Amino acid sequence: MRFTKFVTITFFVSDCAFAFNTPKEIFYDIVAIFQNASTIDHYQFMNHLQTVNNSIDCNFACKDTISQISQTNDKIVLYVSSQSKVNKFRSNVLSKFVQTYIKHQLESDNEINRSLTNILKALEAQLSTLNLAATKKVSELLMFMKSQLTDLGIIDKENISALDAAADEKYLVEGMLVFVKGIFFFLICSVLTSVLCMGLVGSLLAIQLILWIVVLIRYLLIDT
Ligand SMILES: *[C@@H]1O[C@H](CO)[C@@H](O)[C@H](O)[C@H]1NC(C)=O
Ligand SMILES: *[C@@H]1O[C@H](CO)[C@@H](O)[C@H](O)[C@H]1NC(C)=O
Ligand SMILES: *[C@@H]1O[C@H](CO)[C@@H](O)[C@H](O)[C@H]1NC(C)=O
Ligand SMILES: *[C@@H]1O[C@H](CO)[C@@H](O)[C@H](O)[C@H]1NC(C)=O
Repeated sequence: MRFTKFVTITFFVSDCAFAFNTPKEIFYDIVAIFQNASTIDHYQFMNHLQTVNNSIDCNFACKDTISQISQTNDKIVLYVSSQSKVNKFRSNVLSKFVQTYIKHQLESDNEINRSLTNILKALEAQLSTLNLAATKKVSELLMFMKSQLTDLGIIDKENISALDAAADEKYLVEGMLVFVKGIFFFLICSVLTSVLCMGLVGSLLAIQLILWIVVLIRYLLIDT
């Protein structure tokens, strides 16, 4: 599918220097946004962006980015609406996290340019994540996530080398799920019922959330 191609290409051209923060710092900064947010919820960011678009300060570049954001958001809505009920549910929860990130961007002291660029990247990363989640098996997603997390230095290679040695895929899957749940357990549980948060649904959500963050970090690293 077309989005998969997008992810692959982007990952090869990235890795240029990020002047201010390491990927690990960016990762935990993003996690902190959710830990600080009073709720993880829908945010009508297009309404907010309409106001920005109409403001006198919004120059050509600003209007252009808003237009790209709008188009990418339309693609996401269309993509999710074509999904099966189960996938749609998961995608909608991921959307709440992305919208919370976007709200944080719009309320931050960043220059509006910077916020708009980050919002566009967040939505592009969401589209890529939805596509990965729909086309890959859970074990493939976990392997991909593991390689991204170690490549970006978010988790230490040594700490999971025990998992590498294990030829047993089930062991690796369980090890990664412990990592995933360790970071996002309470966040996920705050948006789901407690029954769902404990089980597979919660784990798959957490995997998508971490995938979204690592894809976003890749996009943020490309240019700043
Ligand atoms: C989280 O909240 C603390 C305390 O209110 C604040 O110092 C910090 O900057 C916040 N972090 C983010 C990412 O908003
Ligand atoms: C904002 O966009 C304008 C026009 O493209 C550009 O000249 C300016 O450097 C940008 N500012 C930031 C902080 O990215
Ligand atoms: C932003 O404003 C311009 C007119 O200045 C309009 O053509 C464009 O459609 C608006 N973009 C969005 C996303 O509403
Ligand atoms: C790696 O393992 C060491 C020793 O158990 C621990 O102190 C460190 O925090 C771990 N690092 C990460 C990134 O998990």
